[in-house]
This record gives sequence, structure tokens and C-alpha cells, in this order.
Amino acid sequence: MKPLSNKTNTFTDSVIRRMTRVANHYGAINLSQGFPDFDPPQAITQRLAEIAPQGPHQYALTWGAQNFREALAEKQKHFSGMPVDPDQEIVVTCGSTEAMMAAVLTVCDPGDKVVVFSPFYENYGADTILSNAEPIYVPLIPPSFRFDANVLEDAFRQDRVKAMILCNPSNPCGKVFSREELQIIADLAIRYDIYVITDEVYEHITYAPHRHCYLSTLPGMRERTIICSSLSKTYSITGWRLGYVIASPEITERVKQVHDFLTVGAAAPLMEAAVVGLHFEDRYYRDLQAHYTHMKELFVGGMNDLGLSVTDPEGAYYVLMDISEYGYDDDEQFCIDLCEKVGVAAVPGSSFFKEDVRHLIRFHFAKKDETLLAALDRLSSIRKMKK
Ligand SMILES: Cc1ncc(COP(=O)(O)O)c(C=O)c1O
Repeated sequence: MKPLSNKTNTFTDSVIRRMTRVANHYGAINLSQGFPDFDPPQAITQRLAEIAPQGPHQYALTWGAQNFREALAEKQKHFSGMPVDPDQEIVVTCGSTEAMMAAVLTVCDPGDKVVVFSPFYENYGADTILSNAEPIYVPLIPPSFRFDANVLEDAFRQDRVKAMILCNPSNPCGKVFSREELQIIADLAIRYDIYVITDEVYEHITYAPHRHCYLSTLPGMRERTIICSSLSKTYSITGWRLGYVIASPEITERVKQVHDFLTVGAAAPLMEAAVVGLHFEDRYYRDLQAHYTHMKELFVGGMNDLGLSVTDPEGAYYVLMDISEYGYDDDEQFCIDLCEKVGVAAVPGSSFFKEDVRHLIRFHFAKKDETLLAALDRLSSIRKMKK
């Protein structure tokens, strides 16, 4: 038989999703793949029940139902101050995952390069490879995960750099880029004529005093920023697969076509039900922040009480833990053993870094109090993992 494609030959399955399978196998508490174990807002699930008999059950408009796009445009304007045309500047996608894929496919020709900060969310590598583009990695430097503007500029200066992917707030390191940092990125993007594809799925999950700033609102950035985000994290509906691209009409026109051939469209009944969430008042977002702040304090505080030091994120819902003292040189094996011996699942840090980093693992804390407390209880015995 002829070999399958070279392009997919380099793929492994997603390490994050693999760890969920390992967790299930050992009955471990799953703090690996980032999804909540608490319910979505009742108003959204009630609306889903209400519309079940009457639909919509057929294809929506390929770039998203009209009422969904209109509600989303309003919400985006409310939070970013930036007016958005619901007809010409939005494409509703199957999660931010499809939004990112469609954005990279829209921008890149084979051989183009895409700048990505490391550590990074693992889908970005696949997004660029599937687009026949090449990722160039620029390190975020611990402990604050700041970047060196000169190194970023060196990357932008390379031949055929077309775009940058910016995850803000960032998974896995919890960084929330400040306005000043975004200004540096914006200045360089304008100087070197680079598109910036932003992944803003955690835009509403930040911890005071940190606040999300939309790169697209900086002068000169509206036309070169392709915003990708989703409802997965904001409304605790990761399984609904509702995301979107917001960009200039010229870019959006192309994204619509890519999206049409990738998936035709997002799920019509789920869009209809989720519109309720897009209309929520500010209070919902304040409560969401308060809830995440509580979970962060419970988990980070609990880990510190156990003498386990973890990063204190500015946004998103992940922490990184240093496992150097346990004597493993393979962080994936550490995570498998952690599931088996301690009963808690984490993600090996190496799946997020371009650099050879094997001493970090990632936990997430988007869980009910009882789940976090049970995980902390199990983690109190982690020192038995020492070799
Ligand atoms: C940074 C980041 N982007 C995108 C996604 C996936 O988002 P969606 O469910 O909207 O596809 C995740 C999920 O964990 C994520 O952490």
C-alpha cells in the first residue's frame, strides 16, 4: 500500500486528550484536560430543553445563525468597545479549535511561517502543519513568562513570516498580557506586516488585578487581528463546540469559505440555546470571575499547604508544578504513574514547550470544591512517587 500523507505522519494524538483516557483507565481524578465538572448556567440548558421539540434542527446559515451573530457582536462591543458587523465580520465555528484552524488556513500559503510563543497550547503546531506552514517558537521566560522583544523581532524579521498566534490569557502558563506587552507586539506586527491570530478563549477568566485587553483595540490592529474565541470556557459548555472568528470583512469573507468546506456550520440548536448566554448581564461575568478566583485559591492554596509549589496564574485555569525532585526524566511517565499511584491526572509539561522541558506538569482547577478537595487529599501522598 502507498504510504499515508507525510503531513500527518508527524502527528501524535493530543497528549492532553490522551491523559483523559489514562485518567479514565485508572479511575483518577481528572485534572488534565481543561473542562469543568459543574453545570452550565441553567438559563442556557433550560432554553435547550425548550427548543428541543421545535428546533432549529436543520443547517443554519453556514457562517452562523443571524441572532447568534447579532448577540455576539453586541457582547464583543460591550467588552472590547469595538463595534463588530454581525454580517461581515463574524464566522461562527465548531469551537475555537476550528476557528484557529480556519484562521491559519486563511492566512498561510505553503512555506509561510507562523510565530508562536512557547509554552503554547498544543493545537497550534497541528494548525500550522495542516496549513503547510512552519511554526517558529519564541520563548516566554519563567517565572513571569515575559518575552524578550528583541527575540520576537528577530523572529518577525525572518523570511516569509506571515502571522503570529497569541494565546491571551495563556494556556498553560496563565499569563495575561499587559497593555504594554500587547503594544510591543502590535508595533512589531505593524512594522513587519504580520497578521496576529489571537486565541482568547479565556478572555473572561482573569484574576484581579489582571484584566484582559483585546489586542484588536490597539491602534492599527483591527485590520490585522483575527480574533478566535469560543463559548466553551465562558459558559462551561466545552462539549457544545461553539466558537467564532471576528475579523475585518476582507478576512472574514475568506474565513467563511474555509469554514464552509471544513464543517459547513456549527450546531443550529446549540447556537439557538446559547444566544441566551450571549445576552447575560455583567453580573454573570463578575460571578464567573469570583467563582474561578475561589477555585484558584482553593487549589493553589491547598497545594501550597501540602508544600507543593505551583505557579499562581493571572488568567485561565491552569497551574504548572515542578516535578524535578521526583527523579523522573520522562514527564509523561510521571503523569501515568501519578494516575496509577496517586489517583490524579495531570498533563506532561513537555507537550506545551518547544524547548526540552520535562520537569513540569500541568493541573487544571475548573472543578467543584469536592473534586478539588478530593484531589488535594490524594496529592498529599505524592511524595511516594519519589524514586
Ligand atoms: C488556549 C485554548 N484554545 C482553545 C481551546 C479549545 O477551545 P474550544 O473548545 O473552543 O475548541 C482550549 C481548550 O482547552 C484552550 O485551552
